[in-house]
Amino acid sequence: MTVQDKELVPGLAGIPAAESSISYIDGQAGILEYRGHRIETLAEKSNFEETCWLLWHGELPTRKQLDGFRARLAGYRGIPQEAVDVIERLPKGGHPMAALQAGMATLGMYSPNVDVHDQSQREDAYARLIAATPTLVAAFARARAGKPFVAPDPDLDTAANFLYMLTGETPDELAAHVLDVCLVLHADHTMNASTFAARVVASTEADPYSVCASAVGALKGPLHGGANERVLQQLETIGSADAVPAWLDKVSAEKGKIMGFGHRVYKTKDPRAKRLQTLVREVREKLGSTPVYDTALALEDAVVAKLGAKGIHPNVDFFSGIVYEKLGIPTDFFTPIFAIARVSGWLSHWNEQMHDNRIFRPGQIFTGSHDAVYVPIDER
Ligand code: CMC
Repeated sequence: MTVQDKELVPGLAGIPAAESSISYIDGQAGILEYRGHRIETLAEKSNFEETCWLLWHGELPTRKQLDGFRARLAGYRGIPQEAVDVIERLPKGGHPMAALQAGMATLGMYSPNVDVHDQSQREDAYARLIAATPTLVAAFARARAGKPFVAPDPDLDTAANFLYMLTGETPDELAAHVLDVCLVLHADHTMNASTFAARVVASTEADPYSVCASAVGALKGPLHGGANERVLQQLETIGSADAVPAWLDKVSAEKGKIMGFGHRVYKTKDPRAKRLQTLVREVREKLGSTPVYDTALALEDAVVAKLGAKGIHPNVDFFSGIVYEKLGIPTDFFTPIFAIARVSGWLSHWNEQMHDNRIFRPGQIFTGSHDAVYVPIDER
């Protein structure tokens, strides 16, 4: 049988693209695990740094290993002044995900070459990219706001330091904790579009900066990570809980997509959305009410009543934007936060891919013509 006789599976839905032991989803039961650990347990008991170690190594670190890893991250958070200069010269009207893509490529140009076949060099690059990605994002946020770059504080962890680099002020404990949990929840998610993009680029033996820059491009799209900023815009457009039914009828009549709902794998409520909803409640109690939250709850009820039987429920992007808005983060920086977390997943997949690599080269079903006649340009 040639590839031409095979049946096309649009979006490669359900087709395995790799063997992986990093994360696991049961889409019917709403279960997500990293290396066998349930996401709810990690969100409650772990933290982003420990989760990064777990994803890469396959097991939880000892205290000594975690302390060593944290120290390594602290040492790699700074980026060269030349990279800051490049980021500060990027167009201020550009999207922060485009700035991150450019920042990743720039950082790669100022970083040591990585022998992708050397496990210890891969591990070093993992730490470098996890540490520096928040700095790249914060550098663009500061530049866009017309404010000077804030150098990282080596005494703060990833989440607290990111908030510090955004504002220049040490964040309160709740804000840092909430962001840390969000990073844990977004760290990996099996063979999603950006991870697949990362693995495809990894399979060419490209460097990890190119792997991440490509994955950032894939994550930016509204059907993937870009949905989180659109969820907030959608809730603001709806305006209030009372306006939900009429808005939903209109979108359904136009066969539009409701942002923050539906998933290729989950056919029930995304477990990350459940945990994020709890976080929204905690933030609301401590930092005051969130007008968009009431609209969100009404929208969830209405969408599930209408489309739940089709397996359409809230996904991770539905509540994350509400959390970030409450932390004072600009809407178009929501997806870069997703990327800050997902660098750990992308590069863990890169590492796995390099253990048993074969370049991705799928087939196609040709639908064009043959034996076309070349007509000279003046006779066409
Ligand atoms: N609103 C309305 N209808 C939907 C939605 C939605 N959000 N999602 C799926 N459907 C319908 C779709 O119209 C189709 O109906 P029918 O069978 O009658 O044509 C059916 O459900 C199957 O949808 P699909 O688009 O073929 O499903 P997919 O697996 O190809 O796409 C998805 C999955 C996430 C791209 C899609 O659900 C979607 O576009 N959701 C909105 C964007 C979004 O929230 N993305 C974030 C995804 S989760 C986090 C991440 O990956 O970053």
